[in-house]
Amino acid sequence: MSTSGVEIRRGLMGVYFDRSESCFIDGSIGKLLYRGYDIHELAEQSTFEEVTYLLLQGSLPTRSELSAFDSQLRSDREIPDGVVDIIDKVKGGHPMDVLRTAVSALSAWDPEVKDNSPEAIIRKGLRLTAKAPTIVTTHERLRNGLDPVKPNPDLNHSGNFLYMLRGREPEEEEIHIMDVDFILHAEHGSNASAFASRVTASTQSDLHSAVVSGIATLKGPAHGGAAEEVMKMAEEIGRPENAAAYARNILDNGGRVMGFGHRVYKAEDPRARHLRERSKTLGEAKGQPHWFEILTNLQEVMKPYQSRGIFVNVDFFAGSIYYLMGIPDDLFISIFALGRIPGWTLNVVEQYSNNILIRPLTEYTGPMDQPYVSIDRRN
Ligand code: CMC
Repeated sequence: MSTSGVEIRRGLMGVYFDRSESCFIDGSIGKLLYRGYDIHELAEQSTFEEVTYLLLQGSLPTRSELSAFDSQLRSDREIPDGVVDIIDKVKGGHPMDVLRTAVSALSAWDPEVKDNSPEAIIRKGLRLTAKAPTIVTTHERLRNGLDPVKPNPDLNHSGNFLYMLRGREPEEEEIHIMDVDFILHAEHGSNASAFASRVTASTQSDLHSAVVSGIATLKGPAHGGAAEEVMKMAEEIGRPENAAAYARNILDNGGRVMGFGHRVYKAEDPRARHLRERSKTLGEAKGQPHWFEILTNLQEVMKPYQSRGIFVNVDFFAGSIYYLMGIPDDLFISIFALGRIPGWTLNVVEQYSNNILIRPLTEYTGPMDQPYVSIDRRN
């Protein structure tokens, strides 16, 4: 409560601003459901295409529904030459800046850009879901002086992403891990980037603008940027036996160990379980088990913080997985963004379904009724 009696919830912590049918989170026990389905079952049994269908159409698809949906996604992967030119011009930027710019540019080529009906938003969201991997991989190839790789319609969403990124067909296990990663990142309630997308939609703007807001907001290290920071930390630590001293030094100086803590989860983030297993097995398969050992030792140091509700989050193991797949550090947030496009789209559909301008208040604490002094008389 402020001195004037206004109740202020900084960071909107604990504030419910609307209702949603997309995602249930019980942070006290680490429970996450997409449209009522447990994240563990989805991660273990489903595919990113199925989960995208579930989120945007509201139910799990039949085989024939999934087949038609998947064909549409596969046929929407190419990006216009004009967008490739723009990516080439800005290729020196951070991949998230390039993704944000290219998604914004895509609006100029989208025939339904101004149509805010739910059907059109879903069609546009699927086009963005299909095209965003092509943007990220085109940028990665161009900035390395390589020709972009055309999408391969014979590969699924995750396999095609890895194929376009590296120019060779990925192994089945890598495709599966990428798929699980995309599923885990697909939706997460009113997180900061989804909220930013909703604020944009609430002004009756359009989906491309809302997704640009989402990408811009995801970029920060308190949200999507943590996976990159975790891997940088692991690289600095170098050897498992150095992990404890490294983390203690951060904590003793009042810093934060990246990949720990969450605004909503006060138990372990349920998404971390699936990435932990993959980080371990992939590290062993690639002959680099020390990354997982470093992360395990960091977890040990952070154990006392569990009593304060600070556990590993989704980003903690993700970075090591991307690294082991040969993906550069500065692409990690973009991978989060690729997975999250269905979630942002769903948030925009929900916002429009019962729209109200999102416009909260800040309490003014500055001076009042100041006398205006003309510019010549100021010193
Ligand atoms: N290491 C050490 N202490 C921490 C950490 C951490 N990673 N996270 C929170 N704390 C402490 C913090 O110092 C504070 O202590 P005190 O009350 O003594 O000042 C207390 O926990 C509460 O922190 P907060 O910043 O008030 O909590 P929040 O809900 O605003 O922050 C967070 C959530 C994710 C920004 C924060 O935990 C953090 O900065 N974590 C590191 C970055 C990170 O891993 N981000 C990825 C989030 S998961 C991906 C996603 O879904 O976006």
